[in-house]
Amino acid sequence: MASDHRPGARGKACRAPSAGGGGAGVKIAILFDPGAADWTPEDIRGVMKAVDEIGTIFGTKGHKIRKIPVRHDMRWFQTARRADLVFNLCEGVHGKSEWEEHVVGTLEFAGIPVTGASLWTLAACRRKPIANSLLQQAGLPIPRWTVAQGKIDDAFPLPAIVKPAAEDASAGVDRGSVVSDRKTLRARVAAMTEQFDEVLVQEYVGGREFNVGFVGNRVLPIAEIDFSRMPEGAWPILTYAGKWEIGSPDDLGSVPVCPAAVPQKLADRLVRIADLSWRTMQGKGYGRIDLRLDDAGRPWVLEVNPNPDLNDDAGLSRMAKAAGWDYAELVRRIAEVALREAQGAKAARELLAPSRRPRATRTA
Ligand SMILES: Nc1ncnc2c1ncn2[C@@H]1O[C@H](COP(=O)(O)OP(=O)(O)O)[C@@H](O)[C@H]1O
Ligand SMILES: [Mg+2]
Repeated sequence: MASDHRPGARGKACRAPSAGGGGAGVKIAILFDPGAADWTPEDIRGVMKAVDEIGTIFGTKGHKIRKIPVRHDMRWFQTARRADLVFNLCEGVHGKSEWEEHVVGTLEFAGIPVTGASLWTLAACRRKPIANSLLQQAGLPIPRWTVAQGKIDDAFPLPAIVKPAAEDASAGVDRGSVVSDRKTLRARVAAMTEQFDEVLVQEYVGGREFNVGFVGNRVLPIAEIDFSRMPEGAWPILTYAGKWEIGSPDDLGSVPVCPAAVPQKLADRLVRIADLSWRTMQGKGYGRIDLRLDDAGRPWVLEVNPNPDLNDDAGLSRMAKAAGWDYAELVRRIAEVALREAQGAKAARELLAPSRRPRATRTA
């Protein structure tokens, strides 16, 4: 199944940073998803806002910006391959999140520096059963879960949440996602299976919800979703409406707060768990880990989000601001992390490449 996603930009072409600093400007290609037939003008504006702002941040520094819509015809790649750095805002192609990793994979294969996570991390994290298995294997606390193959074991603990196994951005999550009796669980699983290829049922963890963000190796201040104003009778979860329908009761009832008011001991514990989760999924670039506490105050990992929404009003930017970085600083650091890593990889290739004209070793 596809889900709405936003990334994007369009513009001109680039040439790059000999990443050390000449002053001729770096060629930066900003990639974005131009959208699909069912995208509203507002969806497209959301994508283009980040594209344009990021373009301006680098453009005013004298770098050469190209904003490139990504489509299946691969014309995007002909331009992107000439860039010194690709700033990747694609969260899918034509709104299909399953194409996100292909864009990154193409760039990785061609050896072009790209911001954010790798193909492997994106692909593994998007499939929650795969990520959950790996995280569990690493000893991380993952709420009990199963993939419902159209039906669900009667012994599964309740309440439970039913969510798509391979979506993000709260796609498929609404007021009916949490179920507390068997009959409703069976009905919800059946309904979700009609809509999504794979459906995950997970034990519901109902305490405070936190986000821990990363840029490179740096951990940002912890954020919390304050559900205290959720409408009467609604479960305190971040639904699709809560995330995307501005002014809706679910939106007004799920308020991000950063930095979160947490005792140091809990903060350390959340960061330790988030950090191991990020490393287990080989996270690089930038990411965000979602966690919740249970009734006993123990943290559980809900998911690892590589390349989370980079708009200025989204979670990562809010966390960066709490760290003292304005939006431009966040964007610059994300580019810097990607270039540094690419330089390391380039240096390694040079070190190991056979010399072109082997010469006889002279001894004298
Ligand atoms: N096991 C769970 N227990 C309690 N709430 C959950 C659980 N899983 C998901 N949620 C709620 O649903 C929201 C979306 O789920 P999440 O797994 O983060 O998927 P997405 O990829 O759509 O963000 C979370 O932010 C949280 O509020
Ligand atoms: Mg999430």
